[in-house]
Amino acid sequence: MKGVILAGGTGSRLHPLTRITNKHLLPVYDRPMISYAIEALVMAGVTEMMLVTGGTHAGEFLRLLGNGQEFGIDRLFYAYQDKPGGIAEALSLAEKFVGGDRVVVLLGDNIFGRSIRHCADAFRQQKRGARVVLSKESDHEHLRHLGVAHLNGSRRIQRIVEKPDHPPSDYAVTGVYFYDDTVWKVLPELKPSGRGELEITDVNNWYLERGLMEYDILEGFWGDAGESMAAYYAAQDFVREHGANRE
Ligand code: DAU
Repeated sequence: MKGVILAGGTGSRLHPLTRITNKHLLPVYDRPMISYAIEALVMAGVTEMMLVTGGTHAGEFLRLLGNGQEFGIDRLFYAYQDKPGGIAEALSLAEKFVGGDRVVVLLGDNIFGRSIRHCADAFRQQKRGARVVLSKESDHEHLRHLGVAHLNGSRRIQRIVEKPDHPPSDYAVTGVYFYDDTVWKVLPELKPSGRGELEITDVNNWYLERGLMEYDILEGFWGDAGESMAAYYAAQDFVREHGANRE
């Protein structure tokens, strides 16, 4: 399974910090934010990765990560996204890199308290389709800024709603997604959303509509450090006290 880490976008919710650098290079406790995503994938047994980024600070990733070996990566590739056209658009840049293999996509601003290895192993056992990872979040104001799973009873996800005014459950969809190679047929079918982006939630709903989506529910801390200044500092506080990606 190949890994794709997305680290583009504008980072506008962390302005003015992100006027002078890419969001994923900002410190989270003692390391740049992106290192936690890389560590999460390496610990999940993924050693071939592509980092997708864009904007004026893209070169800094090369300075930080180099060929990736210091971070436990065997082969590290880079792609440049010309403009922030959405998570799904950023993913499409990795098609040739992933080829016919499976892929785990990780948003570079997501921070996990515990290792996601068990999710990757569950997807390795899954025959086909896709897999998402949910995290319980009771604060509905917070859920309004995320993708939220509409659960059918407690067993199946019926639909994922992106940034809902009325969250249909307490389960946020985190920024780790597993796909088989059908994803490359789905991406070209997508239409831009109201915010002008190709949405990863539309990809996930494509799999859900066909009964091809499984999910895990995370235990422990999950943070989207790019969601707001408060979320950025919540991730800092957590990592400083407890660390991240613990086995
Ligand atoms: O973090 C989890 C949430 O991430 C999910 O619950 C949502 O369903 C999902 O849509 C996403 O929401 P965000 O609004 O937080 O996405 P954001 O625009 O912050 O982008 C997430 C990451 O993807 C970020 O690390 C940068 C990268 N990205 C984003 C865009 C728009 C790119 O690489 N290229 C892009 O064009």
